[in-house]
Amino acid sequence: MRRARRVYYDWFSRFYDGFVALHSRDKQGLARKFLVDRLPTQNGGVVLDLCTGTATLLPLLQAKVGPEGQVVGVDFSHGMLKVAQQKTRSFANIYLVEADVGSLPFATGIFDAVICSHAFYELKGDTQNRALEEIVRVLKPKGAFLMMEHDVPPNPFVRALFYLRLAFIGAGRAINFLRREQEVLERYFASVEKVVAPAGRSKVMICGK
Ligand SMILES: C[S@@+](CC[C@H](N)C(=O)[O-])C[C@H]1O[C@@H](n2cnc3c(N)ncnc32)[C@H](O)[C@@H]1O
Repeated sequence: MRRARRVYYDWFSRFYDGFVALHSRDKQGLARKFLVDRLPTQNGGVVLDLCTGTATLLPLLQAKVGPEGQVVGVDFSHGMLKVAQQKTRSFANIYLVEADVGSLPFATGIFDAVICSHAFYELKGDTQNRALEEIVRVLKPKGAFLMMEHDVPPNPFVRALFYLRLAFIGAGRAINFLRREQEVLERYFASVEKVVAPAGRSKVMICGK
């Protein structure tokens, strides 16, 4: 089953950026800039981007932590990482790792922040819980986890595409998580704050360890 999902994401990587532009109508990437601006990380910070996909966030994160910092993007889709590699090859301090977020190949307590954009609700089975345990493990004691998710689109056509894609990836769990995200996150983090992004039909959950 996991292999089938990887094949799906490998295929999706070919037009993923175009799909997101249609869904979010956020041509300037304002939602992503909003997310990265909320990151409590300075120059020299070490940041992990879970489910990094086509690396849309990585150059923004690199600009935030500067040349002394380190940015790591993790994804289990080879196709997504191939696109990500093309976009980030000019950056010396961006690293791409092929791994499942339910079992992160990193030491404990090494990241100042972990971020996950438009991916968490898509995690299947027990992977959401295992990913949350792993995020808490790899964060430094005062580290933060920021999660950005789509809101349900108001446009009927785009909403139909949104639900069609959720159905394809296992809608029940995704919709369930979208309804209960605050409650789930509070089981793992001392503080959880929700803010609505000014663009991209998205919201950001800011979690403190
Ligand atoms: C909707 S895309 C989001 C990409 C990116 N974060 C963004 O904001 O554009 C979801 C990504 O999650 C990845 N993914 C899904 N399940 C995963 C898992 N268990 N481990 C690692 N990556 C996973 C997929 O391969 C895909 O690249």
